[in-house]
Amino acid sequence: MTKRLLLGQTLSFSANPLRQPWEDCVRFDSAGGVLIEGSRVVAVDGAAKLQSAHPDAMVVDYGDALITAGFVDAHMHYPQTGMIASWGKQLIDWLNTYTFPEEARFGDRAYADTIARRTCDLAIAHGTTTLTSFCTIHPESVSAFFSAAAERKMAVVAGKTCMDRNAPENLRDSAQSAYDDSKRLLSEWHGKGRAHYAITPRFSPTSTPDQLAALGALWSEHPDCLMQTHLSEQHPEIAWVQDLFPDARDYLDTYEAFGLLGPNGLYGHAIHLEPREVDRLSEVGAAVVHCPTSNLFIGSGLFDANGLAKRGLRIGLATDTGGGSSFSMLRTMATAYEIGQLRGTALHPSQLMWLATEGSAEALHMSGQIGHLGTGAMADITVLDLASTDAIAQRTARADDIWDALFPTIMMGDDRAIKDVWIAGERASAA
Ligand code: GUN
Ligand code: ZN
Repeated sequence: MTKRLLLGQTLSFSANPLRQPWEDCVRFDSAGGVLIEGSRVVAVDGAAKLQSAHPDAMVVDYGDALITAGFVDAHMHYPQTGMIASWGKQLIDWLNTYTFPEEARFGDRAYADTIARRTCDLAIAHGTTTLTSFCTIHPESVSAFFSAAAERKMAVVAGKTCMDRNAPENLRDSAQSAYDDSKRLLSEWHGKGRAHYAITPRFSPTSTPDQLAALGALWSEHPDCLMQTHLSEQHPEIAWVQDLFPDARDYLDTYEAFGLLGPNGLYGHAIHLEPREVDRLSEVGAAVVHCPTSNLFIGSGLFDANGLAKRGLRIGLATDTGGGSSFSMLRTMATAYEIGQLRGTALHPSQLMWLATEGSAEALHMSGQIGHLGTGAMADITVLDLASTDAIAQRTARADDIWDALFPTIMMGDDRAIKDVWIAGERASAA
């Protein structure tokens, strides 16, 4: 098996820095190495030690660039790639004006293939090695996405988005067809290579109780699958949910009542939560996903990363493109930092990096496999140039530790900061 030794500065985690002092959670080596055999990492250690123990390994020396786990995007919509950065609307109007007309195009497999490939390539160019995506109601859109990811050997999570009301006619399925199509796609894709199927009701307003119940039944037949949806993103949305489900105790209850709350549930946004919702999410061990650029772009609100982490919730970090305004997890971390500031809690660079890698992987129940730079993990790796622009380089030059050197790249970096990307032990390139 081919052995490769990547040399540079290395950053990995042994615990969650949002739950205990970050100093106890981080492993940093300014002269580190990552040994890859086949598709996996077999050791992370000092460069000199690894070089002398493995003289046969092919060496790639990244100098003082930072080698980290590849970024894991825990919630996005690949079909919205073409309409990212559409102006002037908040959630419901944004969906009706921009999103639904674009998603209606994905019954055309050739178009879905084009956008799926483009999205995977954009992700890789930005250092993201795993995407968790909503597709559209069209089964073709799901196959297009899983195929594009497989061509690039990417681990991905995705599912057919289900909607049987409050969407244009050409974007509605039914309770039965959502169940049947999801079940068929799940059996076709789940566990095939690096593909993971997620049962995907878009959000309560676009599903009838019958459809939510059908998808709850499907999840109970496949409890190992993830279930992804949206929760409590914007106040008018929450009021709408109250009108549509007058008997529900709160937004989360519209999922819970139909079997759509569980430890494999992945709830995007989760900004304006009632105390009961936080209690229930935490009791069942569900995960929430922070989508910072989207939350500012669509005007939704300020996610409480610190508070929810302290309640023991698993938290992923996500671009939420195209509601999010960037494909970059660096930009996403920067915005998470800014939201933390507005809430009075500055997230440390180690906490931001954790969220973008280990945190998202934990939300997906893939800890140790992806988002992790350590023995046994898949070799999905991103190498960051910490001086990728003149503006960043002049600031990094006066840094006195790795956090001070990394923070300018988190705040100001983009795809130019991505020096290299490895996926499943191979150098990633557009397929
Ligand atoms: N809620 C329901 N659908 C969507 C979507 O596509 N994007 C965002 N941000 N929120 C949603
Ligand atoms: Zn979303």
